[in-house]
Amino acid sequence: MLPGADPQRGAALIREVGCASCHMIPGIRGARGLVGPPLMHFSRRTYVAGRLPNTPANLIDWIRDPQAIDPATAMPTIGLDEQQARDIAAYLYTLR
Ligand code: HEC
Repeated sequence: MLPGADPQRGAALIREVGCASCHMIPGIRGARGLVGPPLMHFSRRTYVAGRLPNTPANLIDWIRDPQAIDPATAMPTIGLDEQQARDIAAYLYTLR
């Protein structure tokens, strides 16, 4: 679905960088955070955070730097690089 991206590596990154503390994410053990919206069925979501059409490029931008898209959002910019954000996006798109 996303060329050059590895959903398995994305799942590992999701565990490492702490997305789980804020999000409920199917397939990620312990991901029960309720600070942000649950990410189930993410591939079927129309918008990313209600702001951007849900395309791979927009999702990657959001994961990399949500604060650049909206400085008022509660989601922090974690400092992921492009490849890491791509891998995470690939995992989120496995959630149908
Ligand atoms: C400190 C809590 C926090 C952390 C950590 C966090 N998020 Fe978020 N996230 C949020 C909040 C809050 C929102 C809702 C943002 C908004 O609408 O302004 C959000 C929104 C999102 C959305 C859009 C959801 C939707 O329903 O459209 C995605 C995708 C997302 N986060 C993925 C991630 C990923 C991947 C990570 C780890 C790299 C992560 N988040 C880390 C709090 C967090």
